[in-house]
Amino acid sequence: MTTLVTGAAGFIGFSVARALLARGEPVIGLDNLNAYYSVGLKEDRLAELRREFGDAFRFERLDFADATALEVFANKADFDRIVHLGAQAGVRHSIDNPAAYLQANLVGHGNMIELARQRRSSHMVYASSSSVYGGNTSLPFRVEDRVDHPLSLYAATKKADELMSEVYANLYRTPLTGLRFFTVYGPWGRPDMAMWIFTKALFEGHPLPLFNGGDMRRDFTYIDDIVSGVLACLDAPPPDDGAEKAGGSKTPHALYNIGNSRSENVRRLVELLEQATGRKAQIHCEPMQLGDVPDTYADISAIARDHGYAPSTSIDVGVPRFVDWYRDYHGLSSASLA
Ligand SMILES: NC(=O)c1ccc[n+]([C@@H]2O[C@H](COP(=O)([O-])OP(=O)(O)OC[C@H]3O[C@@H](n4cnc5c(N)ncnc54)[C@H](O)[C@@H]3O)[C@@H](O)[C@H]2O)c1
Repeated sequence: MTTLVTGAAGFIGFSVARALLARGEPVIGLDNLNAYYSVGLKEDRLAELRREFGDAFRFERLDFADATALEVFANKADFDRIVHLGAQAGVRHSIDNPAAYLQANLVGHGNMIELARQRRSSHMVYASSSSVYGGNTSLPFRVEDRVDHPLSLYAATKKADELMSEVYANLYRTPLTGLRFFTVYGPWGRPDMAMWIFTKALFEGHPLPLFNGGDMRRDFTYIDDIVSGVLACLDAPPPDDGAEKAGGSKTPHALYNIGNSRSENVRRLVELLEQATGRKAQIHCEPMQLGDVPDTYADISAIARDHGYAPSTSIDVGVPRFVDWYRDYHGLSSASLA
């Protein structure tokens, strides 16, 4: 059974595609390889998939916000299930670049659920985000909580994706699962995220930009835990049985938090990175950024109950693994760092 994975050159899409391929399931990867961050890293991820899995991985460079191009592609491609992870990500970038989010996350998401409807896809899993919780102060965040007050356009587009999906599940009975990811990190991660930025600064001997003086908490979730949760959801579409699903829908549309369910102080992350790199951080305190939230913490009881999701990687284990990968990827031998 072939699965279409969008954002396959991106961090989570690459990791999910790799896990599907490792299970022996062919994957068609779709990505426009945009320049939001290093295109070289995206190409390296694709090369890794080709190297490991050969022809079982097919790739199509395409902008899914272009409805005509998507239709032409879909007419000649054979797949059933869809994992839609392509998007314009990043809270901070959305403050100055709103148009990219409207295009990829609203038009693009609309095109993808329309594709799922037309194809009668047995299931589409799509990415939402913990940022939909905005400045909610009731912790941990629960999928039943109201999420009407986003703090960034990025968050608003993700909430809009959930609403559009609900309409498709209701009108056309398209089986859909939305996953609110919480700060995903690990090998092959994203250069625009704190874990990478801090690691790079430590290796290069530059100051670490610490927003709000590091007085922020994040539910850091290791990529392998995320991948196991995505696959468990993908394998079990929400049934169209009128029963209430996680998130409150009575359509075949479920919504889950997917996090580690441990809220960690960013200063603790810095300590672990110092240990793993063997470098002492020079801290440069900066004010809280527009659009940022002080705290994230996932209640994962719904996905644990419905899909047996049980994250097992603490940051004490995951952070050194990321740093090892970072060192290898950049050809930084331990000796040259001494
Ligand atoms: N990584 C996290 O911590 C995190 C947290 C919350 C939500 N998410 C969401 O999870 C999903 C995957 O995130 P990621 O970390 O892998 O991000 P990523 O930026 O590494 O991957 C997204 C990929 O989508 C591609 N893309 C963007 N617009 C496209 C378009 N119009 N057509 C085709 N391809 C397009 C990009 O080129 C990129 O390779 C995104 O929807 C993101 O918003 C991620």
